[in-house]
Amino acid sequence: MEQQFNKINKVEGTLSLPGDKSISHRSVIFSSLAEGESVIHNLGNGEDVKSTVRCFSSMGVNFANQHDSLIVKGLGLKKLKKPSSPLNAGNSGTTARLISGVLVNQDFDSEIIGDESLSRRPMQRVISPLALMGANIHASPSGTLPVKVFGSDKLNAIEYEIPVASAQVKSCIILSGLHLQNETKLIEGIPSRDHTEKMLGLTVSNSIGKKIIYVSNKNYPVPTVYHVPGDISTAAFFMPLALLTDNSELLIKNVSLNETRIGVVTLLKSMGGNIETENIKQYNGELSGDLIIKTSHLHNIEIPSEIIPNIIDEIPILAIAGILSSGRFSIRNAKELRGKESDRISSICSNLLHLGLNVTEFPDGFEFDGQITNPFPVFESYEDHRIAMSFGILSLLLQNGGKVNNFNSVAISNPDFIKQLKTISR
Ligand code: S3P
Repeated sequence: MEQQFNKINKVEGTLSLPGDKSISHRSVIFSSLAEGESVIHNLGNGEDVKSTVRCFSSMGVNFANQHDSLIVKGLGLKKLKKPSSPLNAGNSGTTARLISGVLVNQDFDSEIIGDESLSRRPMQRVISPLALMGANIHASPSGTLPVKVFGSDKLNAIEYEIPVASAQVKSCIILSGLHLQNETKLIEGIPSRDHTEKMLGLTVSNSIGKKIIYVSNKNYPVPTVYHVPGDISTAAFFMPLALLTDNSELLIKNVSLNETRIGVVTLLKSMGGNIETENIKQYNGELSGDLIIKTSHLHNIEIPSEIIPNIIDEIPILAIAGILSSGRFSIRNAKELRGKESDRISSICSNLLHLGLNVTEFPDGFEFDGQITNPFPVFESYEDHRIAMSFGILSLLLQNGGKVNNFNSVAISNPDFIKQLKTISR
């Protein structure tokens, strides 16, 4: 589906967003593992979260919608049931990586499959540490899905330094460690998002600039009431829209303000963005609050490499902000972008070249400056939800608007994107 966007004159009003995708996945997984009834308020409504629900549902977990909440009847330690067909993670890397850590500890064999895009993404990064724990888990020869898992009760706790800043890898090992009596010790050099540690209440220490996370079956989840804050990565798309449209003011209510996720707010503020935070609350170990965003003049800044894992999902929309900010936009040390729903370095650069900008692509990032010379751009989404939304936002800021091909992919994280835009665009 091709989506047309016309220039907007003003952004005003209030948005309340569906639950954060990362916190939603974890709420579903922890509720499914806990023995008894959990309640999840404001669960994310994207296809990825549905993939996690579908996988646990096919392993015997009962899910029921009640008013605006999800009631989950979890099964308990090693009590999941053998699924009758392969577990389909759809487009969701988080589903595929995190359930691997659960499946290796069950007393049945299973298989994880996914869509075309997910079937290109690396799985070896979780298979290697799980194999060190003694798991019997195998990817296809290219290190991707389908993954075959032979369940076992003979896994061992490990001490492991995570070689890539990835919350999915970290969370997969934590989930496996939750099934073991001995303590697994994880060492993280560059911090990635920490929802798993926070929501499970894990013990964490610091040593010579590295974070150490401890996990064993003492941390196995119990039934809980989860309040999922609005998705900061979804909110991120509306930030440059409000900042870069004249006479605008936008309130985004109750959004996740976890410190490992708010790099996008920090960077936009350093670029000159007027963004304020208020009504800070805490549920399930997670901070949330309201954001007030007002029209500002933005300038590009140097993006420090330590912040990359914190903004990894927001780099596409930060690049859009960069187009309409003074100075040259540059991002490096972001090789991980090549392994996302699309190769995001290549997807962004192709669309920027289509606009007529001066673009340099690097193996780990890209730089650009110059003026937009294409008056009627038609962007490619590469069937990647964050690329689709980023270039949709850019189109709303361009004199003649713009079009985005294959826009349906937005449903992966935010099926209500167009509806939300309508409520705040004037
Ligand atoms: C996620 C972690 C990130 C992120 C993804 C969600 C998570 O991936 O890009 O959208 O919920 O753990 P990596 O951990 O692989 O960087």
